[in-house]
Amino acid sequence: MARLRLIRSTWLAEDIVQLEFADPAGPDAGAELPAWEPGAHLTLRLPNGQAREYSLCGDPADRTRYAVAVQRDAASRGGSACVHERLRVGEIIEVDGPKNNFALEEAPAHVLIAGGIGVTPVKAMAEALDARGSDWRLFYCGRSRASMAFTGLLERLGGGSVTLHADDESGGPPDLDKVLAGIPDGALVYCCGPEPLLAAVEAAIDDPARLRVERFRAPETPAADPSGDVPFDVRCGDRRFTVRPGASILDTLRAGGLQVPSSCEEGICGTCETRVLAGEPDHRDHLLTDDERASGESMMLCVSRSRGPELVLDL
Ligand code: FES
Repeated sequence: MARLRLIRSTWLAEDIVQLEFADPAGPDAGAELPAWEPGAHLTLRLPNGQAREYSLCGDPADRTRYAVAVQRDAASRGGSACVHERLRVGEIIEVDGPKNNFALEEAPAHVLIAGGIGVTPVKAMAEALDARGSDWRLFYCGRSRASMAFTGLLERLGGGSVTLHADDESGGPPDLDKVLAGIPDGALVYCCGPEPLLAAVEAAIDDPARLRVERFRAPETPAADPSGDVPFDVRCGDRRFTVRPGASILDTLRAGGLQVPSSCEEGICGTCETRVLAGEPDHRDHLLTDDERASGESMMLCVSRSRGPELVLDL
């Protein structure tokens, strides 16, 4: 956890504000901030007590500041409303991270797909790929041009191809089959945006192993049917807890007095990821890859359960 000062707030597009944070002593006088790679997010501990993750969208080479962009969400659960209404330049807040659950992997080509505010990690990826001279293309869609951030900057990147799609100019949402037709062999597809866009990309892609997604919210369909859940035990050091159906490991450990960090509590941010020392997790998050699940090395305590009678956690 670090304390950073909000040093600048800039409107990027309709309902989207960019916030820049630096060491409380100032961007030039303070300590260098930890390094980050495109795809990383920062968790802001907001004045209303909520923790929210926002993708870093500034320049990773500038170690004096972090930039994130936040869209005011009409269906806000409090996070974006707090950022827009209560956070003021000069204020100091606590942050966690940066942490990267959406890192760029090596590939012969990268296809980036962004919807709305999902452009924030993708913008940093496009800039990095462009600087490396990689083969990349970006498809970026939004309700209207006025609601889309970074459009001019992205269109000026010279090395890739950028397609912008405004629903109000194009008669509706994009045809993802068309977007994904003819993508280069071996290309990895990175997608960040609202759930309908992610679902459409997941339905349209030929090989799901090529797809990397970052979600704002958990999908409406739960990762598992909870009706068959049974109790199991969790051991942390010399303490033992019983996790009952309907309760999460996170809630159970907290009720027992353990301090466990969390943020989304929906299995999408990774804040509660914990090392598993023994036992077989029943993964119900929306974050780990198939390989990571199969390894059983770590799990998200907010949503995942146990396949066996006991899990031993590194807590
Ligand atoms: Fe976000 Fe558990 S708190 S994955």
